[in-house]
Amino acid sequence: MLWNRPGDTSMTDLNVVALVIQEPTAHQLTASLGRIEGVVFDLRMLGEEGASLSSIGVTELPDVVILEINGHREEDIAEIERILGEHGEQVTVFVTSKDSDIKVIRRLMRAGVRDVLPQPIQTQELVIDISRILAEKRARLAGQGGAHGRIVSFLNAKGGSGGSTLAVNVAYELASRFDLKVALVDLDLQFGVVAHYLDLKPRGTVLDALANPDRIDPMFVKALLTPHESGLHVLASPADTSTSLDASPEAMVDMLQSLASGMDIVIVDLPRVYMPWTLAVARLSSPLMLVVQNTLATLRDARMILDVLPRLGMTTERVEVVNNRETVESASVSLDRLRETLKCDRVHKVRSDFDLAVRSQDLGMPLSKASERSDLTKDVVALAEHLAALCDGRERKAPGLLKRFFNI
Ligand SMILES: Nc1ncnc2c1ncn2[C@@H]1O[C@H](COP(=O)(O)OP(=O)(O)OP(=O)(O)O)[C@@H](O)[C@H]1O
Ligand SMILES: [Mg+2]
Repeated sequence: MLWNRPGDTSMTDLNVVALVIQEPTAHQLTASLGRIEGVVFDLRMLGEEGASLSSIGVTELPDVVILEINGHREEDIAEIERILGEHGEQVTVFVTSKDSDIKVIRRLMRAGVRDVLPQPIQTQELVIDISRILAEKRARLAGQGGAHGRIVSFLNAKGGSGGSTLAVNVAYELASRFDLKVALVDLDLQFGVVAHYLDLKPRGTVLDALANPDRIDPMFVKALLTPHESGLHVLASPADTSTSLDASPEAMVDMLQSLASGMDIVIVDLPRVYMPWTLAVARLSSPLMLVVQNTLATLRDARMILDVLPRLGMTTERVEVVNNRETVESASVSLDRLRETLKCDRVHKVRSDFDLAVRSQDLGMPLSKASERSDLTKDVVALAEHLAALCDGRERKAPGLLKRFFNI
């Protein structure tokens, strides 16, 4: 979690930061917002150390910002425009001011400010507004993890770190061990490997959807899926170097949401390509699994990715780190160093077994089929268990007789 969040807050709380100038404003806001259940209210007096708008959207991303402005300070207005320009989807901004110059109010409203509150603040109206924003946030979160299926992406921090291996094998374990409807999507449009790793002949590909954005709906996307014997539904990549990487972010989001509407979980193999559509997919992902190896070079790239995401409108609190190909002997970076550099307490470990990884890919079969008892397989299963637990109340499948005796 890289955004600074107040100590004990949960995902379903609403984080409200107020930056004020005058004591009376501070009292009015504390008295009204400090008491709403589910609102974590953080009051800062402008002019005191650390209290400025410049941290918003850079080191922290609250849900709501309330700013008291003095007249029409150009810096304040420019900062508000920056915050709303970059993070307008995530942050709601209220402004309060003693005097209300109509030109300034117009400019603030154009920037996307929710309301300009005259003083003294009508606290009742503000409480209603904030409660509504809290309810909307909770409904959105419930929707993400519930009826519409969770979207989880695997992104490598450096080429060859194992993003595709983990996406394929975690998706396979989810489909075969749990009572979950699971889809696996290969978004590596030019060099996709998912179909190859699972020995599948694709019925349709991602490109069929992207080339027909007007036809995208749950039925159309379902028709493009290729079934795997495990029950996994695969949306393959065209895997063709002539495919343009300039895909439409709207079509990509539509395609994934249409797919997720019929699934419990959608696993995405997301390539390390910085395009508006890859960022749109990252924003949809919960969590985004960042796959790193414990080498200095990978770590540097991982840090860069984690630094850039907030500026691109992606909250890094939804990022989880996976240390793949982890070996104690060859590691130039310890797990502690990895945690410290990436500011991430939770690092999943997946041990290295190059022979098994390559053999399973060459055979077109998942790791657990090629070797059920290897450490690599155990770590992949643990990762699948972690993600299954995020899909509330899903039970493990009872292994059938055939499965138990013949491991099929
Ligand atoms: N845990 C592991 N132990 C040993 N080798 C592994 C492991 N995971 C993946 N590999 C191997 O690393 C290589 C790269 O794997 P993979 O294709 O999954 O990486 P990627 O991050 O998707 O790469 P790309 O940048 O091409 O998308 C493959 O040869 C694979 O067999
Ligand atoms: Mg890959």
